[in-house]
Amino acid sequence: MTITPAEARALDRDDPLTDARRHFDLPEGLIYLDGNSLGPPPAQAKAAIRACVETEWATDLIASWNSADWMGLPLRTGARIARLIGVPETSVIAADSVSVNIFKLAAGLLNAGLKGVAVERGDFPTDGYVLEGLSRLSGTPFAYVEPGAGAAGLPDGVQILVKSAVHFRSAAIADIAAEERAAKARGAAIVWDLSHAAGLVDLRLAARGARYAVGCGYKFLNGGPGAPAFVYCDPDLADGFSQPLSGWMGHARPFDFADGYEPAPGVARFGAGTPAIVSMTALHGALEAYEGVDMAQAEAKARALGDLFLRAVDDLGFGLACPGPGEARAGHVSLTHEDGYAIVQAMIARGVVGDFRSPDILRFGFSPLYLSYADVLRAARILREIMDGQSWREPRFAARKAVT
Ligand SMILES: Cc1ncc(COP(=O)(O)O)c(C=O)c1O
Repeated sequence: MTITPAEARALDRDDPLTDARRHFDLPEGLIYLDGNSLGPPPAQAKAAIRACVETEWATDLIASWNSADWMGLPLRTGARIARLIGVPETSVIAADSVSVNIFKLAAGLLNAGLKGVAVERGDFPTDGYVLEGLSRLSGTPFAYVEPGAGAAGLPDGVQILVKSAVHFRSAAIADIAAEERAAKARGAAIVWDLSHAAGLVDLRLAARGARYAVGCGYKFLNGGPGAPAFVYCDPDLADGFSQPLSGWMGHARPFDFADGYEPAPGVARFGAGTPAIVSMTALHGALEAYEGVDMAQAEAKARALGDLFLRAVDDLGFGLACPGPGEARAGHVSLTHEDGYAIVQAMIARGVVGDFRSPDILRFGFSPLYLSYADVLRAARILREIMDGQSWREPRFAARKAVT
């Protein structure tokens, strides 16, 4: 059962987030369902990069570290992210990549005396790869726990779990409060990977007892390709936290050039080397598109868009690798088909951009900021035409590209 185009337009008229769309200028006719791999640029991101390059860098040059407060940019960017994930403004810093930030937090927890690192099997691979490396470096055990087992599945002697708040394949949303309770009961800690959750799910991390998190800036936060990631650390724990990538940008007074590391207060100590200012400026600007956006409304709209899509294509013979319509699910849906890659390519050729995740998943992200119900209905109609007409069988759609 799906809705008519007129009903979709009525939903768009009543959408409390329609105002956010004016920040985006997507190519005419394109329906962009790939915000969970690379969000499009909001106008504010483009304007911010222009000002950064043409005025701050080109004219003000080195003075910009002070006059444009480049030094403060990682924490100012973190403050904007903090509101979206529900933590105190001063408890987030933008820095490095998710992979590097996982290392900082997990290794810091080893420094604090916890033992063993683990990840759920099937979670995003880099999380496990980094922990394997940390295990080799430190000698602490590395373990996989079963998918969905969470903190309760940690083997004896393993106390650090890295877990996605939203799974990159299934879009399942973790029960953060319950996981934190389970972790605390066994003296363990969870590092939340918010890559597919930040900017989409009403996370309310602090209220749910989360203590450590990382997330990426280039997906739903629309910070641009390779945008900096971020770190959250509970402010009550940050001052005692010792992360081992103790570079000068995490030092209390970097411009003293003193021998000996002294960490900056709070989350600022998660800085390491010189921040990528142009890239971070883009992320900082992009986050303005979230001004006034209520995260509960954003989450509800993303789910409603996904539900609409799933209902509109439910008779096309796809398998389902995500929670179904009406069930708790974050911002994307995952369908399965053995020719999923070719089908995604055929959709891209028709102006509907999704992505393919090996071995057989067609993944479509539903950003609540720039997608309308009418867009999603049209995307579903195009998928139906591709399946009915079997146009995906054209040989050009089978050729695999490096990035899927
Ligand atoms: C859940 C998750 N974690 C981590 C990453 C990769 O993070 P980075 O490349 O910033 O290290 C991704 C990338 O798609 C992801 O989806």
